[in-house]
Amino acid sequence: MKKKGRYGTYGGQYVSETLMGALLKLESAYAKVSTTRAFSRELSSLLSEYAGRETPLTFCANASRELGCRMYLKREDLVHGGSHKLNNTLGQALLAKHMGKKRLIAETGAGQHGVATAIVGAVLGLPVEVYMGEVDTQRQALNVFRMELMGAKVIPVKSGTRTLKDAINEALRDWVANVEHTYYLIGSVVGPHPYPLMVRDFQSVIGRETKKQVMKKEGRLPDCIVACVGGGSNAIGIFSPFLKDDVELIGVEAGGEGIETGEHSATLCAGEAGVLHGALSYLLQDADGQVLPTHSVSAGLDYPGVGPEHAMLKDSRRVTYTAVNDSDVLEAFSFLSRTEGIIPALESAHAVAYLMKNADRFERDDIVVINLSGRGDKDVAEVAKMRGRIL
Ligand SMILES: Cc1ncc(COP(=O)(O)O)c(C=O)c1O
Repeated sequence: MKKKGRYGTYGGQYVSETLMGALLKLESAYAKVSTTRAFSRELSSLLSEYAGRETPLTFCANASRELGCRMYLKREDLVHGGSHKLNNTLGQALLAKHMGKKRLIAETGAGQHGVATAIVGAVLGLPVEVYMGEVDTQRQALNVFRMELMGAKVIPVKSGTRTLKDAINEALRDWVANVEHTYYLIGSVVGPHPYPLMVRDFQSVIGRETKKQVMKKEGRLPDCIVACVGGGSNAIGIFSPFLKDDVELIGVEAGGEGIETGEHSATLCAGEAGVLHGALSYLLQDADGQVLPTHSVSAGLDYPGVGPEHAMLKDSRRVTYTAVNDSDVLEAFSFLSRTEGIIPALESAHAVAYLMKNADRFERDDIVVINLSGRGDKDVAEVAKMRGRIL
């Protein structure tokens, strides 16, 4: 990032005047607080004692045999709460406390970020309100109940397509009205600067651990790392420490029913530059610049935008972005469950599906690391329903 808050031409702060002051305060608080010993010590202690880091890097012997390469999973499914999202919410909630904020608000798609925010609200003693598209509250009912159990208030958003994009709009509206005492805890590397930077920093722990672990197990860096991309936080978290290395990096978007059908959420594969939620990045839009409706079997990838750093990495070709369809994802969901006894989140199953579809690209000794961003418990009832079983 050369210019402040920019990734090439992408990123920036496209917000109303009301929020500019809040963003500047946030930027300077982050710069000041996050580099202090006290903050680092407090965060690493929460990450290890509470969140359960470091997470294992698991060699998958059975899947490797079937796919014909050395497949590892970075086990973010084992982070407390069931996904990588807690790495970020712990960091931002600690910052909010240091800034003297009295209330956290958040948006959520799959519910995992909402759950992770509810968790930090409970453990750090801050009230939490979570905006969630009404459609997502239905397909992720288990996570709604988990948030409520932990004392958070879930607000179903009934506008637009009633998914993540609309939830973010509502959260931004709330933030404008309550900016003095409220901290808006964004769940991915999206939104105006400094959010993409902060979230990337808090999620980079995934890649740092992976690098150390793979060197220890294999004595060399992996040939390829694969991660799913919604907003892009788990992907940038694992990619970041490898950007200067000779390692192939692949981001997998939600191809939904197929990119050619228009029923998908593959922003980098099929979008164009535009402004959404305070930043310039790739965006799914029509010829008039209106945001297009999206579709994905996984609520966490169902978003028409993407983090600005990914936009830059796509243009520079350092990272390859591709998409897999819902049907491939459901196959991967079953494959990993059957071969390894690990039920992946539908989001993470996109990365597994990429490897299944492209297994012939790899040699038997090639090391491929998949970022398993979350566990699939939240998706089990929905997948059963698709197979005609009501649980
Ligand atoms: C398990 C899991 N993986 C991935 C994502 C996508 O988000 P991101 O691209 O920011 O990692 C989500 C979002 O809710 C998620 O719950």
